[in-house]
Amino acid sequence: MEVAVKSGSLEKEAVDALVLMLPEAEHELQGAAAAIDKALDGAIVKLLRDGEFAGKTKQQALLHTHGRLKAKKVILNGLGRTDKLTLDGLRQAAGCAAVYARNHAAKTLATTTVGLDRDHIAPSQAAQAIVEGTLLGLYRFDRYKTEENERKEVTAITLVEGPRERAKTAQHGAEIGRILAESVNFARDLVNSPANDMTPTILADRAQQMAKDCGLKCQVLERKELEKLGMGLLLGVAQGSDQPPKFIILDHRGGKRNQGNIVFVGKGITFDSGGISIKPADGMERMKYDMSGGAAVIGALRAAALLKVPQNVVGLVPATENLPSGRATKPGDVHRAMNGKTAEIVNTDAEGRLILGDALAYAARYKPIACVDLATLTGACVVALGHEAIGMMGNAQGEALMDRLRRAGARAGERVWQLPLWDEYLEHVKSEVADVKNVGNGRAAGAIAGAAFLIKFVDGYPWVHLDIAGTAWAYSEQPYKPKGGTGVGVRLLTQMLLDWDAKE
Ligand code: BES
Ligand code: MN
Ligand code: ZN
Repeated sequence: MEVAVKSGSLEKEAVDALVLMLPEAEHELQGAAAAIDKALDGAIVKLLRDGEFAGKTKQQALLHTHGRLKAKKVILNGLGRTDKLTLDGLRQAAGCAAVYARNHAAKTLATTTVGLDRDHIAPSQAAQAIVEGTLLGLYRFDRYKTEENERKEVTAITLVEGPRERAKTAQHGAEIGRILAESVNFARDLVNSPANDMTPTILADRAQQMAKDCGLKCQVLERKELEKLGMGLLLGVAQGSDQPPKFIILDHRGGKRNQGNIVFVGKGITFDSGGISIKPADGMERMKYDMSGGAAVIGALRAAALLKVPQNVVGLVPATENLPSGRATKPGDVHRAMNGKTAEIVNTDAEGRLILGDALAYAARYKPIACVDLATLTGACVVALGHEAIGMMGNAQGEALMDRLRRAGARAGERVWQLPLWDEYLEHVKSEVADVKNVGNGRAAGAIAGAAFLIKFVDGYPWVHLDIAGTAWAYSEQPYKPKGGTGVGVRLLTQMLLDWDAKE
């Protein structure tokens, strides 16, 4: 889809639909809205007076211009209360407007951010949010639909930004928004792909192709190399599958040599059946999304490369299937990790922490100044926080990193919520036979038990674990989040990189 920014007046734009973002309870129209209303003989004010359109969030109305403007239609889109407007509110409004426009057969859209900025929303941020919301909202995954007859599609959006200077600022924000949204949609495609078309091998191929396109370094470690490295936990999960495991390494050298490495680690289980501790059939088809953490890392590296962030960023994605077979790991088996620690596998369905354990041990070789892992790790995290927040836990060295993630999450609309990881929780993963066991004590603190396992493989560097089990899949359509893989984490991680001071 085309995204353009120009200076000028919205009402003069020749497109299928002009989109007017209108706040609640405002009957005095200003700027482009006033000009458009005048051209339409007061039709907008009439709708407002009649109460047919009130400017509430998720509310829209459609006007035909009948040749009075160069545009064919005008879409009014509610912003909600003006004093409550947030960056994510703008993103959501843009997503709703774009889907509404598509449903009403508009192919080309124009809108403006003039009048949308606030003390806490700079013009470039407003432009970024509008572009993000539009591109994210219009996303759909229909690669496997062969019988779709009539397909409506939005092909272009133009921001018409008044004076030249403002257009220049908006252009900058719009470009960031486009790269971010396209990287999220890239990740969504990886997640939504069925597991038969998203094996570890295919995931690694996608990462490699993307790296080539975006100017990243990419290396894929094969089973032989994993054996040499002693990644017994990753190999232990992979041994039940006929698909070979892959360990994907992406590298963005955007910073100076002495700047240190920021490492992202993503869980890449391309299908989680549970293994011998097999899951119930109901809903198991969704477990193709168990590589959402990996997809987020690959998407974030894509965005970091295209935005040329001035940081050295490494992405690590251990990838395998988790399946039962005659060769599969059995409950009670013990495997040895790359860092020499032994783990008792009490439940083969707690496989994410196993492959992450080896990946976190591998991360030590980069001497990370910050390490963030993302994983659809526990159903318990969904119980604790629902689908509205990412669960966050970290070590003492990771306190400042957690603050960064809180700030970035608020800005990106991908909010994190911290759970404790006190020493007492390490008791939950004590094993009778090995250094650690891969489950906690029954249903108590399940999300934290996952992190308590992981911390055993973190070698003193600043580390934060993000449990995205509740946020990586949209069960119902939300503004700018169509049903399915959400691509959560891509914008959170990239926002953190954008906020990172290059001097640090
Ligand atoms: N991938 C699942 C976690 C999950 C469950 C994500 C439901 C999204 C929705 C993970 O591998 C898993 O199975 N975790 C187990 C851990 C348990 C056996 C300690 C869980 O949460 O039940
Ligand atoms: Mn599992
Ligand atoms: Zn899993």
